[in-house]
Amino acid sequence: MLLRSLHTVDFRNLRDVEYRPHPRVNVISGDNGQGKTNLLEAIFLLATQRSFRRNRIDELVRFGSDKAEVVASIRQADCERRLAVQIQTKPSRKIALCDGKTARNSDYFQGVHVVLFAPEDLLLPKGPPEDRRRFLDRAIWNTCPSYLDEVRIYEQVLRSRNAVLRSMMAATGTRRPLAIQPDGGVTVEVSGAAGSADVMLEVYSQQLAEAGARIIERRRHYLHTIAPQVEATFERISRSGLRASIEYHAKLRDSAVHSVSGRELVGIIAEQLERDQRRDRLRGFTHSGPHGDDVLVYLDGREAALHASQGQVRALVLALKITEIQHLFFLHGDPPVLLLDDVSSELDAQRNGYLFDFLRAMPSQVFITTTSPAFVKLDHDRLDVRMEGGGLVGTAES
Ligand SMILES: Nc1ncnc2c1ncn2[C@@H]1O[C@H](COP(=O)(O)OP(=O)(O)OP(=O)(O)O)[C@@H](O)[C@H]1O
Ligand SMILES: [Mg+2]
Repeated sequence: MLLRSLHTVDFRNLRDVEYRPHPRVNVISGDNGQGKTNLLEAIFLLATQRSFRRNRIDELVRFGSDKAEVVASIRQADCERRLAVQIQTKPSRKIALCDGKTARNSDYFQGVHVVLFAPEDLLLPKGPPEDRRRFLDRAIWNTCPSYLDEVRIYEQVLRSRNAVLRSMMAATGTRRPLAIQPDGGVTVEVSGAAGSADVMLEVYSQQLAEAGARIIERRRHYLHTIAPQVEATFERISRSGLRASIEYHAKLRDSAVHSVSGRELVGIIAEQLERDQRRDRLRGFTHSGPHGDDVLVYLDGREAALHASQGQVRALVLALKITEIQHLFFLHGDPPVLLLDDVSSELDAQRNGYLFDFLRAMPSQVFITTTSPAFVKLDHDRLDVRMEGGGLVGTAES
């Protein structure tokens, strides 16, 4: 994929930016707080319809404005498409358009592959499991757009099951029967509906086990596929002789969860939900399932989160990201667009050297933000722009 042009209107501090990037290396420099990361976020939004900063979508609209728009022209193989994301604040709403029309996710995201590498990623092995799950889900989604819908279905069922559990908690206090709405969001007291919550819980537990099994299988499969390359890349970056390994950690008591799939896996999750039911009812939420799982990273069999040095953690993350990019290129035959948000300043000279060698060899379109463009050691096929107060000033091609 290639980003040919980008136009932002009232997107964060980017009031009205027109950008025609280079097909290879784009360096966006500027002082702190000028809007460099916002520009990457605009590209990320177009590619994913989400922010990478965990903001609510309407927080992307420029302060004082009630709508924002990001429009891009992208090229895939020999076809050109125009993607647009419009955000409104009142009411909070997002509209995604492909060639001027609303499109199904599967059409919109077809062939749109963007990989972000931000300073926060460098803490991944030591950060909370939620960050590792997000990293993993984003990487899988890039390989398979339908994964997004699978995750959404799981999250929807999880919310419904939790709503039933909460209603049961409330009912324990009143000892009065409850009826649960099908969306799981509302509970209504109705006489004669005793037991309906139990029935709903059973239905949602089965649905959750099925949706959860699909997610676990996908996550396990992805990590299993990339693990050998992560190990080899880590060795090339660190030259430490330490073996990097990575595995999915499903928090289910039955250890067979790591090896079985299909109906067997559904059965294991359903059993666990059944076993946890008493605890879930007491606390009002679902304890077990992929929403609580983790990705464990090891160095020579020891958990990196507990034992690895800062430099080793950075080399591990670099290996993970590089592998993710190579895997996407291999899978789609088309290099993903790379967004590097000021990562060079967080890496030492040797790791920066490795990263730039990699970027030189990978035929991706790259966007790199930095406060010091001279540190970006990529000299050819490069366009430099400067960001000042949310506007682009001055371009220089080399
Ligand atoms: N919704 C918004 N409306 C207007 N301005 C915003 C909005 N959200 C953030 N900003 C502004 O955007 C600026 C931050 O931009 P950004 O994070 O892109 O900076 P940066 O150039 O990447 O800086 P650094 O080098 O420190 O990372 C801040 O001045 C912030 O106040
Ligand atoms: Mg920034």
